[in-house]
Amino acid sequence: MKERIEALMAEIEALSCKNEQEIEEARVRLLGKKGEVTKLFEEFRTVAPELKREFGQKLNVLKNTAAAKIEELKNAAEEAPAAAQAAFDYTMPGDPVQLGSRHPVSIAREEIVGIFRKFGYDVAEGPEVEDDWHVFEALNFPPEHPAREMQDTFFISDSDNPVLLRTHTSSVQVRAMEKMPLPIRIVCPGRVFRNEAISARAHCIFHQVEGLYIDENVTFADMKQAILLFAREMFGAQTQIRMRPSYFPFTEPSAEVDVSCNICGGKGCNICKGTGWLEIMGCGMVDPNVLEASGIDSTKYSGFAFGMGVERIAMLKWQVRDLRNYFENDLRFLKEFETSL
Ligand code: DAH
Repeated sequence: MKERIEALMAEIEALSCKNEQEIEEARVRLLGKKGEVTKLFEEFRTVAPELKREFGQKLNVLKNTAAAKIEELKNAAEEAPAAAQAAFDYTMPGDPVQLGSRHPVSIAREEIVGIFRKFGYDVAEGPEVEDDWHVFEALNFPPEHPAREMQDTFFISDSDNPVLLRTHTSSVQVRAMEKMPLPIRIVCPGRVFRNEAISARAHCIFHQVEGLYIDENVTFADMKQAILLFAREMFGAQTQIRMRPSYFPFTEPSAEVDVSCNICGGKGCNICKGTGWLEIMGCGMVDPNVLEASGIDSTKYSGFAFGMGVERIAMLKWQVRDLRNYFENDLRFLKEFETSL
């Protein structure tokens, strides 16, 4: 009996329970009507009288220890949730959430569009997957023009009426001329696609903003003024522009626009390759053929159009030297634009 009391004592002292159900089970197993401790008390009746005193004491200690242990476990279980809460420090800083920043191409696009909005231009958009009519035909591209070749354009189907990815946002001016009431004064931001090898200066996906103004008596001088005002808003009040004769199928006459280099102030540096000028866009008076193709009377209406690359404007504004930076999502590059939020 002595050994059984000692074994049970050791068991009680080591007792641990996970929850209140387990505590109750332990109580029944030890102190219940048929419990181990209760059984020992029954056996105690048969113990020889000279040993009764010793065993009696031991049994009482055992019973009290078991009852105290059960009580202790119950209290601990009740306090556990409160203890866990007390351990939670509400003053600790939270897990930091990394804030993203706007992409430089988005910042530049919104700045360009914002400037023209201030001048009274609306924003128009069109599909990236286009047909031959809106990208080439209606814009007066002759059938043998190289832009219609596979080297320059991504074709999706090569039927008689091919489906292709637009190579410029000039397609949106055709869509606008087809359905908008005159006069039209719009800018068309969007993504364009060209079958080009990727390098520091070229990419197969980039962004353009197209501009179009059609009304009665719109002149080349109006265009020059609009572009000068834009350039000064974008690159600073000292900015000068110059126009060089150029060729686009959809404008006549056509020009290439340069802005004075704001890095060297026109003296010549490695950004402007020593010329003092940076090319920013193409422009011209909308060719009468283009107006007529969209059902606009070219004897009554005239207009100008311009188109610029958003990445290029952003490169000039923030001196980004490699176009690929825009597409690689390197956080070290993107973080430089964080403050522009
Ligand atoms: N679409 C031309 C390009 O992608 C840019 C352009 C030049 C647009 C002259 C125009 C324009 O509207 O008048 O290179």
